[in-house]
Amino acid sequence: MSMQAIERTTGCGQVCAQQLGQKIHLAGWVHRRRDHGGLIFIDLRDRTGLMQLVFNPDISKAVHEAAHHLRSEYVIAVSGSVVQRAPQTVNEQLPTGKWEMHVDSLVVLNKAKALPFTLEEAPDVEEELRIKYRYLDLRRADMHANLALRNNVVFAMREFLHNEGFYDIETPVLTKITPEGARGFLVPSRIYPGNGYALAQSPQLYKQLLMAGGMERYYQIAKCFRDEDSRADRQPEFTQLDLELSFPSEDMIMSLIERLLAYVFKKVLKQDLPTPFERMTYDHAFAHYGCDKPDLRFGFEIQDASQLFHDTQLNFLRAVLDKGGKIGAIHVGGHNFSHTELNRWVERAQKLGAKGLLWMHAKDGQEIDSPVAKFLPADFASRIKGAFPSFGASSVLFIMAGPYEPTWELLGRLRTELAKDLRVIKQGEKRFLWVTDFPLLEYDEKDKRWSAKHHPFTSPQAGWEQKQPGDIKARAYDVVLNGIELGGGSIRIFDPESQKKVFELIGLREQDAQAKFGFLLEAQELGFPPHGGIALGLDRFIMLLTGSQSIRDVIAFPKTQRGFDPMMEAPSALDEAQLRDCGLRIAPTAKKEDK
Ligand code: AMO
Repeated sequence: MSMQAIERTTGCGQVCAQQLGQKIHLAGWVHRRRDHGGLIFIDLRDRTGLMQLVFNPDISKAVHEAAHHLRSEYVIAVSGSVVQRAPQTVNEQLPTGKWEMHVDSLVVLNKAKALPFTLEEAPDVEEELRIKYRYLDLRRADMHANLALRNNVVFAMREFLHNEGFYDIETPVLTKITPEGARGFLVPSRIYPGNGYALAQSPQLYKQLLMAGGMERYYQIAKCFRDEDSRADRQPEFTQLDLELSFPSEDMIMSLIERLLAYVFKKVLKQDLPTPFERMTYDHAFAHYGCDKPDLRFGFEIQDASQLFHDTQLNFLRAVLDKGGKIGAIHVGGHNFSHTELNRWVERAQKLGAKGLLWMHAKDGQEIDSPVAKFLPADFASRIKGAFPSFGASSVLFIMAGPYEPTWELLGRLRTELAKDLRVIKQGEKRFLWVTDFPLLEYDEKDKRWSAKHHPFTSPQAGWEQKQPGDIKARAYDVVLNGIELGGGSIRIFDPESQKKVFELIGLREQDAQAKFGFLLEAQELGFPPHGGIALGLDRFIMLLTGSQSIRDVIAFPKTQRGFDPMMEAPSALDEAQLRDCGLRIAPTAKKEDK
């Protein structure tokens, strides 16, 4: 066979009726093989799908003989004609299932040893092994679909933003540490021994300075690097759709993102995305869901039940109320829990970190069953009904008491666990939500100081100078999808006086602020337009669109949970000579990490 034949005339999954009777060339991987002695059948796979090949000794003895030696995942090129399958052998599951290719020439382009795991086994093998042999894992249709969708989403985003007048501008990855809250990766410098860069945690300051540069509308599919522990929705190296605008309002940015997402949904998923998205203040979200990223696909809202217990003589509740704490409750209707189940929920709450969990059950809607039933006033069932009008037969109240924030956080986590366990989450539903009016600052109990909740370049809301630090609200917004923070952004500070005051609030003395952000403060004195923006976590977005359990499934070459790349084996031991060049030495105490 000449090399010419390796040039494919079509993709395996694209063979169609028009090619019946024609000679075609295909190339791809041996997906499955059935050797019936007389005839050999091979499913040939490429990016477009599968096509059945038939090797028949009557067509070519030599080719048939060669096909005996084919094994799974060999890469081959074949020529032959497209033939209608006999009716009883048609495979309706396969787009090419009506046809087969009668092969008359075969070239083995590359052989394959026995794989560390078969493609069918891949979803169940240990993830580290999957990542080590990522190129094998990527051959699977699922992984293919994820990356294809990612490509289509990014393309649609670029198209939309280009049409909206945004410039795609690259910003440096080697930079100075920006205080995004996470730890940064350090890159030692050879030219400046003893000095180093940080890998950008996000393009935040560069995009602001692009506004100072008059670019007005910037976007970037940006790589970000944060030295934090990986989780299902976190990677040390991840991608954002990052953007910034001059002269914006919050509404302008939120509406832009809604239109962008609606465009992507229509173009890629062929779905209409209802807009505008629901909006909720941070305070409301926290009071009802115990978090700043509520999943709205189910109810089980947290309710303040302190009033219900205002005259309680139950010691543990009384003590909490007397100390200014609160009592929160989640009402779950329509489930008849057994005592064993209820007690299991108490244990689960304790595992989450709660001191305890009180339950009150009303099997018939009248009499309250609870570990504290005999200490409750006689009219308590009707009191509950006053506070929880839908409380009735098969209702349970799960009650937790303590200081507001930690207690509500625990209730929020319990709410999610209840919903998962009771299978009340509406699968397939996509509930977008804006959370607005975040606090500007949060108090760090450990360091005993205020820090920026978003980042210190976020503009406070009007009238902030007169407020206590904890009461100042930010011009910040997050977009949330099904309980996951998809993106966050804000209107920024653009005058040096406000910027200096916010630095002061977070304990950054003037001298330090100058040393760290002198360039920003100076730019703010040289004609800086009002500006604001947002960044969407691209990996998270694709994870949610594909229904994947982890962002690792939508990243071509992810790191493991422990930030390790088992394929290249990175991070790896540092080279003495390179270290010397950078003026560095490994401390004798630094142990080799067990990866
Ligand atoms: P923020 O830090 O909120 O904002 O990040 C924006 C979005 O990026 C995603 N994200 C991550 N995804 C995967 N792995 C991670 N480790 C990770 N960390 C964050 C999330 C998040 O909502 N410069 C600001 C944006 C701005 O103010 O415009 C920023 O980076 O989806």
